[in-house]
Amino acid sequence: MEGQKQRMNNLYLIGFMGVGKSHFGRLVSDALRYQFFDTDHVIENNEQTTISKIFKNQGEEYFRKLELDLIESGLPNEACVVACGGGLAIQEGMMNVLKTKGVVISLFASKETILERTSTNKNRPLLNVDNPEEQIGQMMNARVPKYLEADASIATDARMPADIMNHIIRTYKKINKIKSS
Ligand code: S3P
Repeated sequence: MEGQKQRMNNLYLIGFMGVGKSHFGRLVSDALRYQFFDTDHVIENNEQTTISKIFKNQGEEYFRKLELDLIESGLPNEACVVACGGGLAIQEGMMNVLKTKGVVISLFASKETILERTSTNKNRPLLNVDNPEEQIGQMMNARVPKYLEADASIATDARMPADIMNHIIRTYKKINKIKSS
């Protein structure tokens, strides 16, 4: 509306492990002057342990509940960029929660890119298996339809980082305007 300040709805970046949610989330939050949160880091900080240990000691279901609680009531409701753990948006009902709270953008990358980007980090219990390539393929097949339910989807393969960052910002502003009106 004329003269009225635009609401600064949160931006939720979702997508598979290794697509660059945290990397681009940080860049975008700096550019927008929003706060940045990485759900995995917030959970590790709150629980004073690692994601791997939470999966091992309390199980995946417990971790998913921590993600849900965090999204529902653990973060500010405006002016944040939230890099969501790869499975967060997959939970039943979560996509609607995210889309109601803010703007949801899915980042995508090819299986090869994801395999390369995730191969050096051992703090991803779901990829700590004998054949991570097969695991990534199966998990992507199961999850991609859900990721595509986001407000928008952006590919990150073979593009300049600045180009991806600007694409995310443009898309966020466009959808934020619609959601704020
Ligand atoms: C997970 C993704 C991870 C982390 C956990 C489970 C998933 O986050 O939340 O290991 O189910 O895809 P990143 O996507 O930041 O690696």
